[in-house]
Amino acid sequence: MAAFYDPFMRSLEKVLIHHRKELLEQTKGVVLEVGAGTGVNFPLYPKNVEVYAIEPSIPMYKRALKIAEKYPNIHLFNIGIEEVKNKASFPVKFDSITSMLVLCTVPDPQKASKIYYDLLKNDGHLLVLEHIHASGRLYGKIQNLVNPIWKPIADGCNLTRRQDLILKNTGFKPISESFFSLGTDWYQAVMIKQPAHDTL
Ligand SMILES: C[S@@+](CC[C@H](N)C(=O)[O-])C[C@H]1O[C@@H](n2cnc3c(N)ncnc32)[C@H](O)[C@@H]1O
Repeated sequence: MAAFYDPFMRSLEKVLIHHRKELLEQTKGVVLEVGAGTGVNFPLYPKNVEVYAIEPSIPMYKRALKIAEKYPNIHLFNIGIEEVKNKASFPVKFDSITSMLVLCTVPDPQKASKIYYDLLKNDGHLLVLEHIHASGRLYGKIQNLVNPIWKPIADGCNLTRRQDLILKNTGFKPISESFFSLGTDWYQAVMIKQPAHDTL
């Protein structure tokens, strides 16, 4: 998958890059990037942020490492979101967390979302870009049918999740959000923590 990811995404990235830039230029302070993939976001961060990027897949991590080496403010680790809390020398809380095309793939998105909540500072921002289950009934039904075939081909990616609802149910509140279509439905948001939500 790592070898095919960038060529597979090339035409989509011509549009996605604008959404990535819009979100990443809003990152501040100490940033956690979840599921960095091949490192496509690394060149887009402001130079004055400190990015702790995590990527559990070794082939993806190796590709991302080549990009990370060009940016002294990016620190890349070969771990998943579930391991961040136990990682020595990692910040305890983050000013910004970026989650782009990740909650479609993590095995347990509700758990991942709760970990985001736990790791984000109370005044921090979660920056989200995810493809979501189609709102149109016909296309949504097609995605339900295709998902069992798509998932193993696409390294665990699900077409049938509503990451926007998962994050809101965890206790995140959008301060800006947009739903848009690129053939399939997409969700972009800047989210904050609603206080006094029970987490892990
Ligand atoms: C579709 S790729 C997206 C990569 C990149 N964020 C992007 O925008 O192109 C999904 C990534 O999530 C990573 N991932 C899967 N499970 C994860 C987990 N538990 N914690 C962190 N990342 C995970 C995968 O290894 C993969 O690199």
